[in-house]
Amino acid sequence: MASISIKNPDDINGMRVAGKLAAEVLDFIAPHVKAGVNTAELDRLCHEYMTNVQGTIPAPLNYCPPGYTPFPKAICTSVNDVVCHGIPGDKVLKNGDVINIDITVIKNGYHGDTSRMFYVGEPSILAKRLGDITFECMWLGISRIKPGAHLGDIGFVIQQHAEKAGYSVVREFCGHGIGKIFHEEPQVLHYGRPGTLEKLLPGMIFTVEPMINAGRREIREMGDGWTIKTKDRSLSAQWEHTVLVTETGYEVLTVSPGMPPPPAFIQQSAAPQSVTV
Ligand code: MF3
Ligand code: CO
Ligand code: CO
Repeated sequence: MASISIKNPDDINGMRVAGKLAAEVLDFIAPHVKAGVNTAELDRLCHEYMTNVQGTIPAPLNYCPPGYTPFPKAICTSVNDVVCHGIPGDKVLKNGDVINIDITVIKNGYHGDTSRMFYVGEPSILAKRLGDITFECMWLGISRIKPGAHLGDIGFVIQQHAEKAGYSVVREFCGHGIGKIFHEEPQVLHYGRPGTLEKLLPGMIFTVEPMINAGRREIREMGDGWTIKTKDRSLSAQWEHTVLVTETGYEVLTVSPGMPPPPAFIQQSAAPQSVTV
């Protein structure tokens, strides 16, 4: 197993800045997610905001992991049965759609990575429940983060909560270490068993980003080489935060004024951190 990097105080401050900026792009785009807009327009607006207002770089643009073609846009827009990595294009949003918008910015060399679900108009009962359960899954996973805990503890609570609700956990994609590199060790599985896999240490930074399907967990890849959909065409939801392991627990780095507050079951002990730009 490759080793997990421990971030130094400068890195951590850089990651706080990048995380906040990524979350602020979601705050910025939220009012634009309405019926009639297409996903390319959401991409254009975010790209412009990142470049011209924030002075950040959109990490997805031309991102090209081994075996992939370069990702052609600045953000990922995953609508309805799209699980992840949806490419913005001429898809027009209509009432009842659900969309995940996933933002990764680079600021001073550091990556901030976060995504939220948005509802276009009034969501169906199923779409709302799937979004809520997935949000709780993410926060339950985050709530297990502290020194001495294992990555398997995170995956376990996420899987339990999703399956108890009758949903399934996507296996092919996972959370990831992040810093000056977009995707680094460790892999953060959203399923698993308590007490297994790597032990957490202060200074580790990784994402928690469960993809939960209303139906079966199987996926299929579209011909564009990026877009992932559910095989059974059921709805899929995802939420993502970038999180630091602290001496006493965790600190969520992708925070912003417009971010949905944690569910009531979360008792965040750490005082809010101030960010120095
Ligand atoms: N932001 C995604 C993640 O959470 C990765 C997107 S890669 C892209 O890891 F190229 F599709 F943008
Ligand atoms: Co991520
Ligand atoms: Co992401």
